[in-house]
Amino acid sequence: MSPTKVMPARDRLRIAIQKSGRLAEPARTLLTACGLSWRESRDKLFCYGESSPVDLLLVRDDDIPGLIADGVCDLGIVGRNELEEQAGERRRAGLPELYHEWRGLGFGQCRLMLAIPEEWDWDGPAQLQDKRIATSYPAVLADWLDARNIDAHVVELSGSVEIAPKLGTADMICDLVSSGATLVANHLKPVETLLESEAVLAGPVREPDDIRASLAAMLLRRLDGVTALKDRKLLMFRAKNDYVAELERLLPDADPLTRLPSMEDEWVPFQTMCHGVITWQRLEELERAGAQGLMVLAVERTLA
Ligand code: PRP
Ligand code: ZN
Repeated sequence: MSPTKVMPARDRLRIAIQKSGRLAEPARTLLTACGLSWRESRDKLFCYGESSPVDLLLVRDDDIPGLIADGVCDLGIVGRNELEEQAGERRRAGLPELYHEWRGLGFGQCRLMLAIPEEWDWDGPAQLQDKRIATSYPAVLADWLDARNIDAHVVELSGSVEIAPKLGTADMICDLVSSGATLVANHLKPVETLLESEAVLAGPVREPDDIRASLAAMLLRRLDGVTALKDRKLLMFRAKNDYVAELERLLPDADPLTRLPSMEDEWVPFQTMCHGVITWQRLEELERAGAQGLMVLAVERTLA
């Protein structure tokens, strides 16, 4: 935290996102899809909101929970792993809960996993008793071990956790796994999942009682609209009523067909929202089952 603590403007919402790294681009893309745009400042640490009074602060992901706790930022987009670790550290230190997860955002998925040398057999968590486990997530790991009454030595490292067993500073590791390539390269194998992580929207436990609360509510509603639309397509076609049962069988991932009002009573227009991918092959199947004038439309936004 810088010595000159910036207090949040009362009439604008400030969101902290990662400046660079895995979550940086998708976080901006998501906020842009929510209708936000910014005037970039020269150093690009602060982006002034143009379309709405919602500003961005570009920071290290590790700083995001603290910025919310201090009230410097109102919301943040951060990995659940980082949020849970810092919340766990506060809890273990007997400090009050100041921030929590508002929404999972559906990108940046990874797992916090326990991994052991590949030549070891795994007999379950009891095997961890008195072992040395290297991790950058000491609080999440300690909670997990406590819940299983296991006494192990947590070796806290800020990076390069995966080489600790090779260096002899730990017996095994607890680290983030995405593709699994890092584990394979270090002759380790995953054995337990401690946390399923993804990018989340984090916010304060106590919401501000000024205009920022309604700005946050507006953003949440738009976020839900955007995330609900992932992979959704509107499908439209004409068909005879007799074909409906077979067409619905071919559309197991779609809402029930909606019959649209029409003067026509033989070839009736239908529409439905599909929740999966509609390939050419599926369109051809639908056509063979009697659908005509098939049309797949992208859904840009909804207000539920
Ligand atoms: C994580 C983790 C591993 C790697 C795993 O690091 O610490 O090093 O990703 O990914 P993989 O399963 O696809 O090989 P990250 O890239 O988040 O950087 P950091 O260690 O600097 O946080
Ligand atoms: Zn990090």
